[in-house]
Amino acid sequence: MVSYKELGLVNTKEMFAKAVKGGYAIPAYNFNNMEQLQAIIQACVETKSPVILQVSSGARKYANQTLLRYMAQGAVEYAKELGCANPQIVLHLDHGDSFELCKSCIEMGFSSVMIDGSSLPYEENVALTKKVCEFAHSQKDYVTVEGELGVLAGVEDDVAAEESHYTKPEEVQDFVSKTGVDSLAISIGTSHGRCKFKPEQCTRNADGILVPPPLAFDVLAEIEKKLPGFPIVLHGSSSVPVEYVKQIEQYGGKLADSVGIPEEQLRKAAKSAVCKINIDSDGRLAMTAAIRKVFVEKPSEFDPRKYLGPARDELKKMYMHKNIEVLGSAGHLD
Ligand code: G3H
Ligand code: 13P
Ligand code: ZN
Repeated sequence: MVSYKELGLVNTKEMFAKAVKGGYAIPAYNFNNMEQLQAIIQACVETKSPVILQVSSGARKYANQTLLRYMAQGAVEYAKELGCANPQIVLHLDHGDSFELCKSCIEMGFSSVMIDGSSLPYEENVALTKKVCEFAHSQKDYVTVEGELGVLAGVEDDVAAEESHYTKPEEVQDFVSKTGVDSLAISIGTSHGRCKFKPEQCTRNADGILVPPPLAFDVLAEIEKKLPGFPIVLHGSSSVPVEYVKQIEQYGGKLADSVGIPEEQLRKAAKSAVCKINIDSDGRLAMTAAIRKVFVEKPSEFDPRKYLGPARDELKKMYMHKNIEVLGSAGHLD
């Protein structure tokens, strides 16, 4: 049993309060390996941004929960070494699906967990989320909990839903007061993965690029009215940059019908009560684009550092861009 404070991590409480007030969103970036973590930390130190490091169930299976926790602890020290006097780093469980998993992460030093009961009937979601909150909040150092209402479409390894169902604004007050959650993930049209909309839901611009329908900002506004100042979370918020998709295809990849959430929509959301924006797929695209380029241009290269290094540089560039131009989190470290 270790408390996150001993590891130099923080929970989301104060971070979210400042973000809601300041009209920006905290980046929540998923990591599974060292290069992703280095890129996130370098980008957030250079842009002076707080950050949420997310560990999914898939990441736990791939990289091992213990190893990931020690990597996050190392990330705090690394940020200091890079010149950040007071790093604001959260270690967060992404899409926890059981009380036992959340408990295990909390006992290992995670400072925040998500319990995703969004696929359960409403009352079961309430009961499970409440149980996790009671445990997390009773720790010596308060661990923050994210719950979810509404269903996102999209398919990921461990996150799958065929169809999306927008969050019902009439349920949010009841859910928050019954469960005690610290933040709420909602569904307003985002979804996981690189194909966020079916081509038939989109239009095409003059270059033949898919243009998605806008997010349901009316639903977001209704939710904000019901929960003034309460921290709202957006999952599935990768923009799926056309230049990465093109580069991957140019170097032999096949990514038909890719479409993400346009940056200006995320910018608009970040200025509202949305104070955490989850991004994973864009990191996968950036790394894949850089690695494919090296493989095609330098076919005799076989030192992993020679292709993971450029991938890490591209990732860092992308995270800096997100912090500065999209989420607005840059410059918000004390
Ligand atoms: O929300 C889903 C994240 O992109 C994590 O995906 O389970 O494949 O690591 P993963
Ligand atoms: P993307 O697939 O859009 O990156 O979403 C990631 C996410 O929501 C992680 O929880
Ligand atoms: Zn998610």
